[in-house]
Amino acid sequence: MKRSKTNVQHSIAFGLKVCRKDGEPTRRKLAELGILDNSRAIKSDSTHVYLPIITKDHPYLEGREIVEAEFKPREQKPGTLAESLGLKDIRSFDIIGDIAIIEIPDELRSMESEIGNMLLKLHKGVKAVFAKDSSVMGDYRVRGVRHIAGEHRTETIHKEHGCKFKVDVSKVYFSPRLSHERERILAQVKDGEHILALFSGVAPFPIIIAKERNVIAYSIELNPEGHKYALENARLNKVDGKVFPIHGDVREVLKDKRFISWADRIIMPLPKDALGFLPYVSHAAKSGCIIHVYGFAQKGKEQELCNQALALLGRPAEVIYARRVRTYSPDTDQFVIDIRVL
Ligand SMILES: C[S@@+](CC[C@H](N)C(=O)[O-])C[C@H]1O[C@@H](n2cnc3c(N)ncnc32)[C@H](O)[C@@H]1O
Repeated sequence: MKRSKTNVQHSIAFGLKVCRKDGEPTRRKLAELGILDNSRAIKSDSTHVYLPIITKDHPYLEGREIVEAEFKPREQKPGTLAESLGLKDIRSFDIIGDIAIIEIPDELRSMESEIGNMLLKLHKGVKAVFAKDSSVMGDYRVRGVRHIAGEHRTETIHKEHGCKFKVDVSKVYFSPRLSHERERILAQVKDGEHILALFSGVAPFPIIIAKERNVIAYSIELNPEGHKYALENARLNKVDGKVFPIHGDVREVLKDKRFISWADRIIMPLPKDALGFLPYVSHAAKSGCIIHVYGFAQKGKEQELCNQALALLGRPAEVIYARRVRTYSPDTDQFVIDIRVL
């Protein structure tokens, strides 16, 4: 009997449609974000490439052309198929540097080391696999992780937008899912800006900006480990003359008089309660300053979030942009609001 090379059916799936010239860079980006469907073959016609994706609900895909199309299964070596271990049910994983962090449903926990080893086989660049042991918690927003396969190591170097970020996934917050937001904000920044990157973790926002633009950025982070990596990453990316990490609580650090009417742009990526910090940040904004603030709202309630943000800022200002960044839970979304101080 002829052995089937795969058990993936020739089926309809979501695909990202891009011009042929953008095919390879887009394929790399989707793979970096962990949303390329490796079980299906990429297809093309004379003008476009169609890249199979595992979800259409990802910030990077917003505003891009998603199609439903028939994709052939990609030939895989017998015995390495994700489906054979139920990996299709656990699509939610992030790759940070050479470390994968995966959500294992309770019913698959007894198979977690097999799943981890499968991930090591499927993603050649991954050297260690950890399972999410908790949601992000506490002031530092750090997630508990449990080793399930590969090297016993939690420190890695993640590459994004031509920058390198050293990070310990068990000690500081870092999410590759914010890469699209970093790209979006970078595109708005002009040379000469003064930037306050608050809640800055290992400092990905200010470093990516400073690598491309001539700016002065202060990054402020409460977690001493995050601050340590921010200092190291600024040096690693040769922007330590433009990005100045400060260790401390945003509310205390911004009391310093040098920050009064200093900032052209303020970045506030602490969705859990960034809005509550707006009253402590307001005085640091120049007239014309853009504030990018992240928050959670129930689906359909984003207008209330915008109104609340303007009220808490307590200065004449307008919302110039608001959009959903990602789904947080079945009834809650994460939003970003861009506010212009008048
Ligand atoms: C969601 S993380 C964002 C980290 C980083 N901006 C990034 O994109 O990877 C929020 C960060 O805010 C920090 N944080 C929480 N409360 C803070 C405060 N009061 N002052 C300064 N940083 C704070 C946490 O330690 C955490 O690293």
